[in-house]
Amino acid sequence: MATEGICAGRIVIITGAGRGIGRAHALAFAAEGAKVVVNDLGSTLSGESTAETPAEQVVSEIRAAGGEAVANGDDVASWEGAQRLVQQAVDTFGGLDVLVNNAGFVRDRMLVNLAEEEWDSVVRVHLKGHFATMRHAAAYWRAESKAGRAVDARIINTSSGAGLQGSVGQGNYGAAKAGIAGLTLTAAAEFGRYGVTVNAIAPSARTRMTETVFADMMAAPEDGFDAMAPENISPIVVWLGSTESAGVTGRMFEVEGGRLALGEGWRHGVPVDRGARWNPAELGTVVSELIAKGVTPEPVYGA
Ligand SMILES: NC(=O)c1ccc[n+]([C@@H]2O[C@H](COP(=O)([O-])OP(=O)(O)OC[C@H]3O[C@@H](n4cnc5c(N)ncnc54)[C@H](O)[C@@H]3O)[C@@H](O)[C@H]2O)c1
Repeated sequence: MATEGICAGRIVIITGAGRGIGRAHALAFAAEGAKVVVNDLGSTLSGESTAETPAEQVVSEIRAAGGEAVANGDDVASWEGAQRLVQQAVDTFGGLDVLVNNAGFVRDRMLVNLAEEEWDSVVRVHLKGHFATMRHAAAYWRAESKAGRAVDARIINTSSGAGLQGSVGQGNYGAAKAGIAGLTLTAAAEFGRYGVTVNAIAPSARTRMTETVFADMMAAPEDGFDAMAPENISPIVVWLGSTESAGVTGRMFEVEGGRLALGEGWRHGVPVDRGARWNPAELGTVVSELIAKGVTPEPVYGA
């Protein structure tokens, strides 16, 4: 691993980094010289815990390549767990520069059959699992900033097309991921004063989360560029985590293979203003005209 690189010396927490996209981020940050806290609870795809320690395996890989890393097994959606995670970075490496929120799991089902527990657990792990770590990291950075120490910190959140465009059978997951997109905007506006930028990605890659869902699309080619490899997601995240990304905040990046795009969010459409309260009966024509002038929504995944 490089001791130089665009993240040389930066202290980075990556949640859910024992597998899949998070693991790729951890290795990519370490390759650019970062010191990495590899968080992973080691849960199954649907959130149950296991005896494996995938975070420790990733730490061993980073150390074997000459990098610096430490494992953390806390649940990101636990208030105290998220606080311990932030504290571990500070205690182990002497600070914190980057928080990459990536951990999560799915419990897919059509809304009409979705159980309360399936809703609660998926919204908890993604949405509260982003908020709790951001909250404790931001408190650390605010204290640093108030103490007069320079803060040039980054948060990179993980949303999904399931949240931005909608996804049939993923109402719980999509709602949490749309919530993460909204939370990113508010956090970017609030944390800028402490020297912290906040951006999000909507990735697409072959991991255990997607390999069964998109089996055909996800197959690795026998040769050539493997567009669905999770490693393709990490370069933009590493760049966003570096000091080079200063000034970029409140943005959504869609990433798949070698393709990178901004996710354009909800925008104010061209308004029509009656100058007084509308009568419900007159709105049929008005709404038709608004829709005719508006942008056609993206198709919902799986619709
Ligand atoms: N793979 C894709 O195409 C895709 C698409 C859109 C969004 N995402 C998002 O990317 C992120 C990574 O997903 P992935 O595809 O690599 O899945 P993955 O299942 O391979 O990895 C997720 C990791 O998070 C860990 N985790 C789960 N709950 C945790 C908790 N409470 N605390 C700490 N760790 C926990 C799991 O143990 C697992 O190792 C997720 O947020 C996912 O929703 C993935």
